[in-house]
Amino acid sequence: MEKKNIDWANLGFGYIQTDYRFVSNYKNGAWDDGIITEDANVVISECAGVLQYAQTIFEGMKAYTTADGRIVTFRPDLNGERMEQSAARLEMPVFPKDKFVEAVIKTIKANEAYVPPYGSGATLYIRPYMFGSNPVIGVKPASEYQFRVFTTPVGPYFKGGVKPLTIRVCDFDRAAPNGTGHIKAGLNYAMSLHAIVDAHNQGYDENMYLDAATRTKVEETGGANFLFVTKDGKVVTPKSNSILPSITRRSLVQVAKEYLGLEAEEREVYLDEVKDFAECGLCGTAAVISPVGKIVDHGKEICLPSGMTEMGPVTKKLYDTLTGIQMGTIKAPEGWVVEVK
Ligand code: PLP
Ligand code: COI
Repeated sequence: MEKKNIDWANLGFGYIQTDYRFVSNYKNGAWDDGIITEDANVVISECAGVLQYAQTIFEGMKAYTTADGRIVTFRPDLNGERMEQSAARLEMPVFPKDKFVEAVIKTIKANEAYVPPYGSGATLYIRPYMFGSNPVIGVKPASEYQFRVFTTPVGPYFKGGVKPLTIRVCDFDRAAPNGTGHIKAGLNYAMSLHAIVDAHNQGYDENMYLDAATRTKVEETGGANFLFVTKDGKVVTPKSNSILPSITRRSLVQVAKEYLGLEAEEREVYLDEVKDFAECGLCGTAAVISPVGKIVDHGKEICLPSGMTEMGPVTKKLYDTLTGIQMGTIKAPEGWVVEVK
């Protein structure tokens, strides 16, 4: 299969329309079989549930070309499972996770020409999503839905690749206790847009959200979980019911323990103790692990000892091991890497 003529090494994190997408419709209580189509446009009622009451959820995943030329994806069953949980919380029908994985694999295969080559620094980002499509005017769930999967080749999420980021402690809240922070709903991202535009205007790369109830504990950023390293080399990630259960973060905790022999714990992390950590990173599908060099808390600077020029040593080992597993140069735990082709 001939690859598309794309300058892979210089891709940013943006949308490039690829040739094929998967579409399945839910009507009268059942999903149809779904099709692969070239039509990238969605035509829905002006009163569709998604347009009026933001009934939409999504996932984010990647496909990789391995060192030996296979195309693979990473733990798609966990994305399928998380999408089932997101659907249940927003009163949407579940798109079963086995069908989800099948649809993702079909869409990657159809867009094989857009899967960036091994070593290019780019990957194929996969965006499964679902939305309420029929007219809804009283506040209630839609009765018809569309599930779609598209792909787009991407480079690094943060400009500058692995250069450490400067972030700020944010005065806006991302998620309420008992709210929707733990699911991947579009509404969580809509409410973060003002905060991220404001952060960028003030010269910061991202926001550190705190827990909304006490504003003393670290939650996550707009699109990634936190991972900290203590001065004695222990990995610590924040535990909270209102953050997204990142598949990257869960994988990194296992990598830390089983591949690197490190202690790793998921626990509440207080903002007060962040100054004592040696390293900090943002982890997620898009972010992979992006190192944080500085956290600014209302004028007070917390400078991580790992500095502003490169990743800290433990973050680097985690990064190299995870990407090695994804690209097929390091043996993966059973079931983590799923072959597409
Ligand atoms: N947190 C938020 C708010 C996200 O949007 C994402 C991205 O999916 C993550 C964390 C990371 O999750 P994952 O590692 O499953 O991509
Ligand atoms: C991802 O990492 O897949 C995300 O969804 C984060 C962001 C692009 C919303």
